[in-house]
Amino acid sequence: MTPTPSAAPERPIRRVRLVHTKADLAKARAGLPGRVAVVPTMGALHDGHRANFRRAREAADAVVATVFVNPLQFRPNEDLDRYPRTLDADLAMCEEEGVDLVFAPSVAEMYPDGREGLTAVHAGPGGEILEGASRPGFFTGVLTVVAKLFHLTRPDAACFGEKDFQQLAMVRRMVRDLDMGVEVIGVPTVREGDGLARSSRNVFLSAAERAAALAIPRAIGAAQASPDPLAAARQTLEAEPGLAVDYVAVRANDLGEAPAQGPARLLIAAKAGTTRLIDNAPVVVGHTAIGDAR
Ligand code: PAF
Repeated sequence: MTPTPSAAPERPIRRVRLVHTKADLAKARAGLPGRVAVVPTMGALHDGHRANFRRAREAADAVVATVFVNPLQFRPNEDLDRYPRTLDADLAMCEEEGVDLVFAPSVAEMYPDGREGLTAVHAGPGGEILEGASRPGFFTGVLTVVAKLFHLTRPDAACFGEKDFQQLAMVRRMVRDLDMGVEVIGVPTVREGDGLARSSRNVFLSAAERAAALAIPRAIGAAQASPDPLAAARQTLEAEPGLAVDYVAVRANDLGEAPAQGPARLLIAAKAGTTRLIDNAPVVVGHTAIGDAR
């Protein structure tokens, strides 16, 4: 009789461990060796997250990813319901990147008593500008869930993308103010070939909206080539009728007032159709900077 071909895979499949409850997370976390880095995400993972996983792997002996679309950081008119949820694909990326443990809790697991009367972490005044001005309550939602995820995963380090520059700054500040003892690592923005920053929301863009969205990396390029980065970015964004600019600002790198001269950060938020996009990049006020977007 002809032997049946073996169904065994050609390469060993390394199964990333997936847990959904805090109790299972605690057990799995206890078995992780050495330094642990966490990468908090809302799933719909892309190459920006991949860069975070790789940086986390460099910073620690074990990597934990969290996948949780946090309702606390969405306002009623925002895209909570349509936010992409792609757990199978997310797990495949975690596996490829050697993530040791994935925590993907339900909303009830994270907020068993609901939102009413919830104890929360409030951002200081830095949380009221830019994203905080456009999306009131956003940073309370982000900092509260990040604080909970830190307590649950007990990391030595945590990686966040620089694309959410203000979020990164607010998390750093929370860790300092609340003595959380976590090393916060910022990971440079990953861009598509055409310069658009990778984002889980890019999948919502139609071809025309995506073409309009490219005014954002163009504005960054113009700002970096100009001694007046704010004016150059504004001019480029305003020339694109398919984009509704929410804010364009130049701030100090700690998000305080922009310096009269020297290194600073350009931050942009704009809507293409119904999709809100944010981006940021280093600029130099009074000189030109080396560009990182097209
Ligand atoms: O950047 C995100 O994906 C989220 O804001 C975070 C940090 C995972 C908190 O929900």
